[in-house]
Amino acid sequence: MATNQLRQYITEARKSGMSNQDIIEALTKSGWHVHDIIDIVVDFPPKETGAAVISVRNVSKHFGKVKALDGVTLDIPSGQVIALLGPNGAGKTTLVRILGTLSQPTEGTVTIAGLDVVKDAQELRAIIGLTGQYAAVDEILSGRENLDMVGQLYHLPIEEACKRTIELLKEFDLEDAADRSVKTYSGGMRRRLDLAASLVIRPKVLFLDEPTTGLDPRSRLVMWNVIRDLVQGGTTVLLTTQYMEEADQLAHHIFVIDHGKIIAQGTSDELKRQVGGDVLELHLAEHKQVSQAAELIKSFGSAEPRFDSNTGIVTMSVQGGATVLVDVVRQLDTANVKISDVILRRPSLDDVFIKLTGHSAQ
Ligand SMILES: Nc1ncnc2c1ncn2[C@@H]1O[C@H](COP(=O)(O)OP(=O)(O)OP(=O)(O)O)[C@@H](O)[C@H]1O
Ligand SMILES: [Mg+2]
Repeated sequence: MATNQLRQYITEARKSGMSNQDIIEALTKSGWHVHDIIDIVVDFPPKETGAAVISVRNVSKHFGKVKALDGVTLDIPSGQVIALLGPNGAGKTTLVRILGTLSQPTEGTVTIAGLDVVKDAQELRAIIGLTGQYAAVDEILSGRENLDMVGQLYHLPIEEACKRTIELLKEFDLEDAADRSVKTYSGGMRRRLDLAASLVIRPKVLFLDEPTTGLDPRSRLVMWNVIRDLVQGGTTVLLTTQYMEEADQLAHHIFVIDHGKIIAQGTSDELKRQVGGDVLELHLAEHKQVSQAAELIKSFGSAEPRFDSNTGIVTMSVQGGATVLVDVVRQLDTANVKISDVILRRPSLDDVFIKLTGHSAQ
């Protein structure tokens, strides 16, 4: 069946009352691969830019008494990078696993391109890619064999699978190690291979759970470029990260999650504006004076100062930057607390994170 005939078939099937799910099922039974028909069957990616492609409605996940997710509702627009930020145990991996059809919600629904992650899991698996928090490659096989195998699992013709493998080995700088068993790879190499494996089919929706944890700075930049290229090509990417800079660099929209709930969302700039004002950072000559310094300056801040006796740094949100700076320095000088450095800066995403969750991300 050519594309025109396919469209005609879909139109007729719709008229007879078949749902998109029914149509996909019928077409896949007759030999079509979901990847090739999904755009035509469902409006995917939606014509309207920024229309929601992933819809999460009131999703909870309970593990015994633990509420890993507690009523999460969010929409993810197509063709963007969305970051899910949150401290350890916030529920990030739990949400990614549900979106990736690896786990089912206790309550609530999730649809991707109109398909339900529980009922239509099999169809969905053909259009989504997922890289988990821990590498999931086969140790015995070589890097090349791992990637070829993924291509075969997705029924790519052998020639196409081999071609894609070669492209990915090059992109992730694994050409030299391609024919060695993965057992001999370093942690960062495994991570890169794992990421490459999730890109074999050029997924329409890609979930990445801490994609760059454990990568050196160069490999992290490679990964960022790969993500940007994918999004240029229309893929929607949801990533979790502990690196504020990563969310800042890549994400069009950020959701902050803590204790299984979405506690804030917006662009990086919008979130930073929520902190407001400037951040004053004082580096003390005597690290052990941090708590004394914090006490002395707290009346000048717009929020309680934070301090770290290991680094000797006191940080505080302030309104009216320069004037406050002078007052603070004078106050500390009078009390004989020596400062080695003073910085007045705009809030970073880190400050946002601390303000919202009460603790630092890393
Ligand atoms: N299979 C499970 N059985 C029991 N509890 C679980 C299970 N999976 C997750 N949890 C709990 O659910 C909560 C959320 O865990 P999750 O792995 O989603 O957090 P996370 O945000 O990915 O954290 P991290 O940054 O450490 O990866 C935690 O309290 C965790 O202990
Ligand atoms: Mg996790």
